[in-house]
Amino acid sequence: MSIATEPRLVQKLEGSPWEIEGYLKVGGYEAWKRCVDGMKADDVVAELKKAGLRGRGGAGFPTGVKWDKVLNHRIKEHYFVCNAGEHEPGTFKDRFLLKTLPHQLIEGCLIAAHTVQAKAAFIYVNHEYEEERENLKKALAEARTRGLVGKNVLGKGFDIELQVFEGHGSYVAGEETAMLESMQGRPAMPRQKPPFYPTDFGLYGKPTLVNNVETLCNIPRILYKGAAWFTQVGTEKCPGTMMFSLSGSVNRPGVYEMPMGVTIRELIEKCGGGVKGGRQIKAVFPGGPAFSMVTADQLDLQMDFDSLKKAGTGLGSAGTIVIDDATCMVAATLKYSNFFKGESCGQCPPCRMGTNNLATLMAKIEEGQGTQKDMDSLLQLCGFVKGTGYCTLVTGAAVLVQSSVKLFQKEYEEHLRLQRCPFTPAAVEV
Ligand SMILES: Cc1cc2nc3c(=O)[nH]c(=O)nc-3n(C[C@H](O)[C@H](O)[C@H](O)COP(=O)(O)O)c2cc1C
Repeated sequence: MSIATEPRLVQKLEGSPWEIEGYLKVGGYEAWKRCVDGMKADDVVAELKKAGLRGRGGAGFPTGVKWDKVLNHRIKEHYFVCNAGEHEPGTFKDRFLLKTLPHQLIEGCLIAAHTVQAKAAFIYVNHEYEEERENLKKALAEARTRGLVGKNVLGKGFDIELQVFEGHGSYVAGEETAMLESMQGRPAMPRQKPPFYPTDFGLYGKPTLVNNVETLCNIPRILYKGAAWFTQVGTEKCPGTMMFSLSGSVNRPGVYEMPMGVTIRELIEKCGGGVKGGRQIKAVFPGGPAFSMVTADQLDLQMDFDSLKKAGTGLGSAGTIVIDDATCMVAATLKYSNFFKGESCGQCPPCRMGTNNLATLMAKIEEGQGTQKDMDSLLQLCGFVKGTGYCTLVTGAAVLVQSSVKLFQKEYEEHLRLQRCPFTPAAVEV
């Protein structure tokens, strides 16, 4: 991962950084060596704060502030977990990073665990990412032979271990408290809040630093090249780049590293090569299906946490999905409603029943059996369940439906009027 001011496919990486030799050649493990050589934890945290790095797992929380909270917590037993639970439709950037930059991730994890003085450190990898887990283990073994991890690191007299943890194969397991529960051998279900954050009550109830794969991949570069280098691109409040997973109706779907603040249009046209078959854009999920969609007249919106929030949507983990004008929006919405229904862990009633009822009503409308009463119930239900779950899954499910009905009301009316889907079956593919 390196700063790209011009759009580029990150698959075209310089050298072979997935091998330790290649990674060392581009300054790999230099930042870790500085930490091992005695760079103070407070200085590491200060540099991250200066860089303004924000978490890439969805919430955009300032990373330096989070590290500071764990490092300086009154309870002194700390843990560290890298969250590679990735399971949201349209998000696949962490998988890409695990595959191509395992050493950069390992270096970021070592720095994080060492800085917050973690008693144990883990990389929690989605159950389905079998190849990536093996790849990571291979990279860890390479780092171990170089004395970068394990006993007596670089001869400095301290030990550090990093364990690859096979995660649960569910979307909710990526929610940090559900992840921690599953690591303790319990069902992968979110904890009831408060306490709100693992920084206070994490693994085994102790202060725990949880960071996303991409967040951690940024750490070695920031410490090696400096905060000023990192802030060269991006926006003032969201510096640096973002790894965009671009999918749906584009000619070149893939993972693209672009500066924060890139417009939706630039991402689709310059990176994605435009819309498939020369069709028109109907809608875009800038940050995955759990945030509101935007329409073709909003393509000049900047993609960063603040700009998208201001526009009533969100960046999330930048799983950008493009939908063209041949797509039935009711069918597309139903597809994601079914995803939320299937992925609800069933623990809290609003989510268990809400996601199920939303998907049932959506299916009824798409199948041509919907009535105006169903439409009213659909929107009423969205209002009831929003913000009520132990985690934000049900809120995402409601926001999806609300935004779809608001932006594409005419299509819903057509389904009611005709008592069938006005689109051809092929048009449901997104
Ligand atoms: C339903 C749900 C699923 C999530 N899945 C992931 C995930 O797969 N990976 C991830 O890093 N964060 C995920 N998150 C966000 C995490 O709870 C957490 O905010 C993040 O790991 C913190 O890391 P960061 O500060 O580096 O962004 C999810 C949140 C929710 C509500």
